[in-house]
Amino acid sequence: MPHPTAHHRTRGTSAVLVLSVLALLAAGVCVVVPPWLAPHDPWHWPHEVPADRAALVREGERLFNETALHVGPTTPKAVSGNGMACRNCHLSGGTVRNAMGLVGITRRFPQFNARAGKKILLEDRINGCFERSLNGRRMPNESREMRAMVAYMGWLSDEVPAEMTKMPGQGVMKLPDPPRAANPELGAEVFARKCVSCHGPQGQGSRNADGTYLYPPLWGPDSFNNGAGMHRVRTAAAFIYRNMPLGDPLLNVEDAYDVAAFLNSQPRPQRAGLERDYPDRKLKPFDSPYAPWADSEDPRRHKYGPFPQSSGSR
Ligand code: HEC
Ligand code: HEC
Repeated sequence: MPHPTAHHRTRGTSAVLVLSVLALLAAGVCVVVPPWLAPHDPWHWPHEVPADRAALVREGERLFNETALHVGPTTPKAVSGNGMACRNCHLSGGTVRNAMGLVGITRRFPQFNARAGKKILLEDRINGCFERSLNGRRMPNESREMRAMVAYMGWLSDEVPAEMTKMPGQGVMKLPDPPRAANPELGAEVFARKCVSCHGPQGQGSRNADGTYLYPPLWGPDSFNNGAGMHRVRTAAAFIYRNMPLGDPLLNVEDAYDVAAFLNSQPRPQRAGLERDYPDRKLKPFDSPYAPWADSEDPRRHKYGPFPQSSGSR
């Protein structure tokens, strides 16, 4: 067995290597890394599930990929309020960079959350998506299902060094802001050209035989509600820019903003109590589309921009 200190030092060095190579890659620099120095890229499925955790992890994986089948509105538990699944946004089971990837996520929680105004657990963050993205309600933190999803994310994070609290590629990328406001009318044209073939003319998506979505809805009664992260135009634009059309993402930045503005101008479920979000209003992201805000800007500017340069994307 290696000496514990030596082992720790190796892990630290490899984390620094991973970080610097990822930083170079993010900057668009082509790096040739000798194979013996090549960092292990954690953005993929970990190899195997340790036997003592396998049942719980696999259950969490099923909940993540087929959420509505297990806890959807037509099941006895009815935690989620729409037919969507976590994987519809956190692509490929949460293993994709810049698609709200969840590799390494257990290393970052508990964490201060501006929307809640306090430090929250990973369970609370998952419940944020149940209440908003899935337009449902909280799942008890101690429930078997919640423990299974946390175990699943723990397994996705297994290969990430413990000291690596922030992984490049989590969340969505920081997209440059266009100089003008996003334009829903132009976005409707982008939608008709690039999105309608899969998501349908009413943005309603289409279902598999088992009731899960093959193409998830983008608006309407079975979509995410107005308190969801995807309802922020900068978050939606960054997700769409990198990931949509699925398998062939080639929109330019302006088209991505316009189509995001179009989606988020359509009817969708409305969540009550949103005025309680961001108790410290100064921490509210500029593009949070719902009142109240710390400033007295026109609400349309919060929804569509143009965004002030300093207003961060998260
Ligand atoms: C080739 C089919 C296809 C096209 C074209 C396509 N998407 Fe998607 N989209 C998908 C699939 C499939 C998912 C869900 C991924 C999964 O579950 O694995 C998805 C998910 C999404 C999501 C997140 C889930 C949701 O329902 O809110 C958004 C937002 C989205 N797409 C927007 C767009 C936009 C905007 C366009 C046009 C620029 C577009 N998509 C074009 C297939 C497509
Ligand atoms: C409609 C799209 C959508 C669906 C469906 C969805 N999420 Fe999310 N999720 C998001 C967005 C957007 C964020 C915020 C990303 C950001 O701003 O960095 C997020 C954030 C998260 C985070 C925190 C990630 C981080 O880096 O801080 C976790 C954990 C999470 N979601 C879990 C889930 C789980 C579990 C489910 C299913 C029960 C789910 N989500 C369903 C869109 C979605």
